[in-house]
Amino acid sequence: SLPDSVVIYEVGARDGLQNEAITVSTHDKIAFIRRLAEAGLTTIEATSFVHPKWIPQLADAEDVLAGLDLAGDPALSLPVLVPNERGLDRALAAGVTRIAIFGSATDTFARKNLNRSLEDQFAMFEPTVARARAAGIDVRAYVSMCFGDPWEGDVPIAQVVEVGRRLFDLGASQLSIGDTLGLATPGRVHDLLGAFAAAGLGADDLAVHFHDTYGQALANSYAALEAGIRTFDASAGGLRGCPYAPGAAGNLATEDLVWMLDGLGIRSGVDVAALARTSTWMAATLGRPSTSRVVQALAAQ
Ligand code: HMG
Ligand code: MG
Repeated sequence: SLPDSVVIYEVGARDGLQNEAITVSTHDKIAFIRRLAEAGLTTIEATSFVHPKWIPQLADAEDVLAGLDLAGDPALSLPVLVPNERGLDRALAAGVTRIAIFGSATDTFARKNLNRSLEDQFAMFEPTVARARAAGIDVRAYVSMCFGDPWEGDVPIAQVVEVGRRLFDLGASQLSIGDTLGLATPGRVHDLLGAFAAAGLGADDLAVHFHDTYGQALANSYAALEAGIRTFDASAGGLRGCPYAPGAAGNLATEDLVWMLDGLGIRSGVDVAALARTSTWMAATLGRPSTSRVVQALAAQ
């Protein structure tokens, strides 16, 4: 049976803004995150402590966090991406309490996104996670390219599960299954979640992270819901995806997800109308319409 409530892990300020052509000002990023929280989101990935040359759009990570009152609202959690120990040092100095490492299920994407081979990414993450845990920091692990890779094509389920299991076992509290390119369809989601369960990673250990390139993200989310998943990554207004993954469109729009959840009577705590107003404002800031059907429909009313 479906749950009474779910957690939405909002990634618009990070996964969204990291790949927009226009770099949003620090001031507007802070306003965006505040408005996301006011719309009821409680877990908001705020930025990335990656190399600023790799992701110039998020080069102001320190300033964004300094502009948000991290300790002010105990109910609000602002995780950040951290790839390595240098990133962890920066995140600790900024006072963060939750980080996310991001591994790849394929060798080619590990090289493109992390400048490491599939195997060498673990040597980068291992001391990062160990030090984070010793400092009392919660760690999420992402695994990317779970449903296909632009260079390697189909990615075997066994390979995704093996890499995901290893990333989780470094000391993560949750593994987020990334459909970086939006290639997943519901049957494949069902099969992959089943394979993870057989490898000892059940629905309570997992989150799903769908991009909406082919319009399948909402159907995939429903398949995940049926499989027991309770944490859903989504991006307000369906903001864009990863610059190192050619062909990747935006994430599942948070508004589209919340509209479905509201219809199912599943609580997320999010006020969809307030969130859509925020996304309409951000779309104007970026100079293009939101790709979310729900945002478009509500804006037209
Ligand atoms: P590298 O060049 O191999 O780094 O990059 P390095 O370890 O060789 O260090 C080179 C220099 O960079 C050194 O400086 C370091 O200090 C500095 P130097 O000593 O030469 O002066 N450096 C840093 N500076 C600031 N912050 C840091 C940092 N690290 C090293 N953290 C690295 C390796 C991992 C850093 C690089 O490849 C990188 O930053 N990659 C990030 C790419 C990225 O952010 N991609 C988007 C996020 S992933 C995604 O969107 C997918 C996801 O949404 C899930 C899905 O959809 O599937 C999560
Ligand atoms: Mg992503």
